Amino acid sequence: MDLHDQDLVAFFDEAPLWSAPFGAMALAAIDMRPGLTVLDIGAGTGFLSVELAQRMGVKSRIHALDLWPAALDRVRGKARYFGLPHLTCHEADAASMPFPDACFDVLVSNVGINNFSDPPTVAAECRRVAKPGAQLILTTNLIGHMQEFYDVYDQTLAERGMNAARERLRTHVAHRGTRASVTALIEDAGFVVESWKDATKTLRYVDGDALLGQFLIRFGFLPAWREVAGGEPAFDELRPALVKNLGGPIELTIPMACAVARKPTA
Ligand SMILES: C[S@@+](CC[C@H](N)C(=O)[O-])C[C@H]1O[C@@H](n2cnc3c(N)ncnc32)[C@H](O)[C@@H]1O
Repeated sequence: MDLHDQDLVAFFDEAPLWSAPFGAMALAAIDMRPGLTVLDIGAGTGFLSVELAQRMGVKSRIHALDLWPAALDRVRGKARYFGLPHLTCHEADAASMPFPDACFDVLVSNVGINNFSDPPTVAAECRRVAKPGAQLILTTNLIGHMQEFYDVYDQTLAERGMNAARERLRTHVAHRGTRASVTALIEDAGFVVESWKDATKTLRYVDGDALLGQFLIRFGFLPAWREVAGGEPAFDELRPALVKNLGGPIELTIPMACAVARKPTA
């Protein structure tokens, strides 16, 4: 997929059904006060940044950071359209942020951490740019995410004796966090976790063809699933058997979490 394609960015932006339930958890957790400086890390097309800018008001300063230039163009367009001069975009890697030390009151990342290539470095950067007493709010999907799909994918690989692919699948599934690993990520960086909220949402599909054809799946998940298959045979050759094994209707569970932490004042 071409990340510079404005159509792709626009249509990605029209699918907040994936990230909005996570964003709602983050919005519920923020200590809202006038005049806060807020950083949205991995802001994407800015659904949460724009929501924050509107809810926190013009006395706040909202900063959207992402390394995806076309998505940030979209955020800027929304900021113009909605009249949000206090929303600023930054094209940068969260592992190396273009900000001085101790400048943010609130740092939020909505379904970001599974996407960062170096989460501990991002967490350390968060601590550096957080003011003493600042809130850090991370939402994420945890291990258990789409387990119903992964069980059937594993079964399909097992039927073909694709043991190397099954091992890659195990590694892929394990890259998402648990409550313990997310807490350790945050606390190892020097924040103190103050609260944790769990929730579950489900994604329903009539069958495997619908699942594998959905834009959210093709954009966000299928590239990694293809890599798991490797070329022995390739994913497309497995697809008919996978669809048959998936049956229908399909209900995928998404375990969601919102961790709320604080940078100590001393
Ligand atoms: C699943 S999307 C979430 C987007 C947005 N927060 C939302 O709620 O819709 C993850 C985002 O993280 C961004 N990202 C991944 N690695 C990053 C990094 N190292 N620094 C900054 N952003 C990053 C991606 O470009 C993508 O926009």
